[in-house]
Amino acid sequence: MIIKWRDEYSCYDPVIDEQHRKLMELINQMNDIADLDDGYDHYDEIVELFNGLKEYAVYHFNYEESQFEAQGYDSFNTKIQVLEHKSFVNKVAAIDLYELDENQNETVRSVLDFLSKWLDHHILDTDKRFGEFLKEKENQKG
Ligand SMILES: [Fe+2]
Repeated sequence: MIIKWRDEYSCYDPVIDEQHRKLMELINQMNDIADLDDGYDHYDEIVELFNGLKEYAVYHFNYEESQFEAQGYDSFNTKIQVLEHKSFVNKVAAIDLYELDENQNETVRSVLDFLSKWLDHHILDTDKRFGEFLKEKENQKG
């Protein structure tokens, strides 16, 4: 397991939290394959998982971005969010499939290292801000 859910990750929104857990699960599934180190070729499985992760990340980012708008989140924070989302999608899209084929374990490990750190930072520094904003809004309603 390369990234594990902690209570600290909660953004006070059950839908967003659930989607973050799912992203972690996909990253961990890929990590499990890298950990096998059994000498077999796992290229197809890895590519399939990467594609699944990319698809799910896009779905999740779209959901979050629709919430920024629906909840009236300010444009500065929304802009940072959108930029970070793009950098994640670009990173996954830029994975060199030739490199992955030739140097499977190292490539997967370096990508997983980036993705898990990115997700950790993104949730704790960026999404959490949005969570605090939602919580604040809720409190004001009384
Ligand atoms: Fe997120």
